Amino acid sequence: MSAQTAVPAARRQRGINLEKWGWLFMRGSGVILVVLIFGHLFVNLMLGDGIRALDFGFVAGKFATPFWQWWDVLMLWLALIHGANGMRTIVNDYVTNERARKTLVWAVGLAAALLIILGTLVVFTFDPCLGLTEGSALEEVCAAQGIFPN
Ligand code: HEM
Repeated sequence: MSAQTAVPAARRQRGINLEKWGWLFMRGSGVILVVLIFGHLFVNLMLGDGIRALDFGFVAGKFATPFWQWWDVLMLWLALIHGANGMRTIVNDYVTNERARKTLVWAVGLAAALLIILGTLVVFTFDPCLGLTEGSALEEVCAAQGIFPN
């Protein structure tokens, strides 16, 4: 056998190796998720009044700040893509029926895509003064923007 034919053609990989990039993505996103998730927990549960400060106004305040909007959106995207890619790996490893495997991989991908779109929309279009009611804790904040209870 000559040196050229030593490696079967089918095993020689051409183009982008998606599995390799997926493997690297899981490690890279894991490191970033540690920072995002523990930063999120620390700020929400430990700083200031801690968990007692968590209410609608607290969330509204965070979603009014571009820094926290991007923090939360990055956490959402990375956790969902990381989680969905992890589930894809598990499905590929354990589901032996080809039709069931394909269906489940598609279902995981669709669920992740839907949640990414919905979550991103919520973070960037969130309006705490929408449907403002009398006596709401946000009455003053919204009045400053010229929005009053109906
Ligand atoms: C705290 C930050 C996180 C770190 C450091 C982390 C790290 C990792 C790493 C390195 C892998 C690859 C394991 C392997 O290939 O054997 C992995 C797999 C996985 N991760 Fe994460 N991850 C984190 C958060 C998450 C979150 C938030 C989710 C869910 C949304 C998630 C769901 C999964 C799943 C389903 C797998 C596949 C498990 C498997 O292959 O057996 N992870 N994670």
